[in-house]
Amino acid sequence: MCGIVGFIGKEQASPVVLRALTRLEYRGYDSAGVASIYDNEILLKKDVGKIAEVQGKYALDGLPGNIAIGHVRWATHGVVNVPNAHPHTDCEGKLAIVHNGIIENYQELRHQLEGEHHFVSETDTEVIGHLIESYMKNGDPLEKAVTATLGQLEGSYAMAVISVDDPGKIVAVRRSSPLVIGVGDGEYFVASDALSFLEKTNQVIFMEDDEMAVITDDGVMLYNKKGKQVKRKAVKVEWEWDQASKNGHDYFMLKEIIEGPEAIQSAATQDKKHVMDVAMNILRAKQVIIAACGSSRYAALIGRYLFSQLASKFCDVVMASEFQYFASSIDKHTVVIAVSQSGETLDVMEGVKLAKAKGAKIVSIVNVPGSSLARMSHKALYLNCGPEICVAATKSFISQLVIFYLLAFAMMNKLDQGVKKLKGLSVGINGSFAENSQSLMTLADKLYDQGNFYYIARGINFAMASEGALKLKELSYIHAEGMPAGELKHGTIALIEEGTPVVAICPNDETYHETISNAIETKARGAFIIGISDRYNEIYDEWIKVPEVEDIFYPLSVVLPLQLMAYYLAIRRGKDPDKPRNLAKSVTVK
Ligand code: AGP
Repeated sequence: MCGIVGFIGKEQASPVVLRALTRLEYRGYDSAGVASIYDNEILLKKDVGKIAEVQGKYALDGLPGNIAIGHVRWATHGVVNVPNAHPHTDCEGKLAIVHNGIIENYQELRHQLEGEHHFVSETDTEVIGHLIESYMKNGDPLEKAVTATLGQLEGSYAMAVISVDDPGKIVAVRRSSPLVIGVGDGEYFVASDALSFLEKTNQVIFMEDDEMAVITDDGVMLYNKKGKQVKRKAVKVEWEWDQASKNGHDYFMLKEIIEGPEAIQSAATQDKKHVMDVAMNILRAKQVIIAACGSSRYAALIGRYLFSQLASKFCDVVMASEFQYFASSIDKHTVVIAVSQSGETLDVMEGVKLAKAKGAKIVSIVNVPGSSLARMSHKALYLNCGPEICVAATKSFISQLVIFYLLAFAMMNKLDQGVKKLKGLSVGINGSFAENSQSLMTLADKLYDQGNFYYIARGINFAMASEGALKLKELSYIHAEGMPAGELKHGTIALIEEGTPVVAICPNDETYHETISNAIETKARGAFIIGISDRYNEIYDEWIKVPEVEDIFYPLSVVLPLQLMAYYLAIRRGKDPDKPRNLAKSVTVK
């Protein structure tokens, strides 16, 4: 998953593109590059590394010209090296292209082109550039050459192309990968995410699949797959530029954890009629399946418990990458709830497309306004937690839980009561953050060199054990596993050794006593017990005290310490919690 940006305006373009790229770095940071057109030449600089590193070496913002494109890469095809960094060019360096997506038939196309074209990279993107080049040789305008090229591509793309043979324009197209247009005052952007240009304009045109934008300093022309002009007004995106800044914190992750309690308030502030409407659709559905990945799936697992426990509504949760294998059980009586912070996760979108084709109704729970998933859904509920820049889900995970609570209470026709309880919770949870920070920092100092952590819990809290383990793995690179507490003795307990950290999530609810006894079984084998609970127990080697809440709300009570523990362990191990290795904020590849 990568980030692309294009800009055309009156001022020098490369500094604007560079600044926009810094807001997209959460989408990939293996390499960065910028290309501009000046004096009838393509000027291009790129290198491996994060933007700041590449900028420090090559002054990306020094490229002259009022039209430029830029790219931050998360490697899919080809190792992380300079030749594979974007932008890519054609044989003669007369065009430049940046791309986010995967061209599935790129090898076959490359073999067809290799006789006449010289390739310098292993990427699928370079193939696109040479294809466009071959059509430009006919003297076609850039948009015509791009259209002809698209006819040969299979797979996903969001791309922006510039050419000295048709200067003064950016041609941009999308299929399955996100692409939006920013409309400023005599200046225009095209980007993977509106966040990248909010400092300059919040007027956004959301492109649909198979649309093409031809952007010049006169404006934006939008065309559909048949080449027919599409009239679409820009909409105002409510997010503010400074929401996507660190506000003085070392990392976005800490800022966004701190925003967690406030996120409860924002997520609980919904159009109640809309929530009731969605809830009734779910309640009345013959079959309900929730599709999600990663942390969003753990939120879904808690939602599943809430629907059953509070509204006696059974539903199933399917890992989105496995969704296609359940297709035969989807029909017009099915409601699919798609949960995705980014609204761009390809696994989720593929599942939704398949479910829609079978007649299912789609409800999405998303954060990013205008995201592809939101626009594919029959009904959408928004997290309202603002931009989440850290690759790891923190405040968005909390917001997803809140939406599931609201739906469950709405199904009981007690939505107002649910909103009141949730808003009341956020104050207590806020307090636990301050109380636990110091002890979690000390704990990180004690355990940072451990190789394995085990998180155990029961009932509704089990998904929190999985989420806690995922946070630790993806941020500190320590192996961790979330286990149902009762399952440990059926095998995994063989891995418990002297000093093995076991995080026992054992709030004072119906699961407390049995989880404690499972923790004692590990302690008997030398485990170091970290008790996440509002109730003390002498078996804890470290007690992380959480607020006492109604049983059903304990997931919201235990979540902050789990996020903070992962954050402090990552920092103690010298990792960058905002940009963990090998990961991206939104996985738009299969
Ligand atoms: C969460 O910390 C991870 N970054 C990852 O598991 C994430 O939850 C998953 O990729 C789903 O992303 P989405 O919510 O944007 O679909």
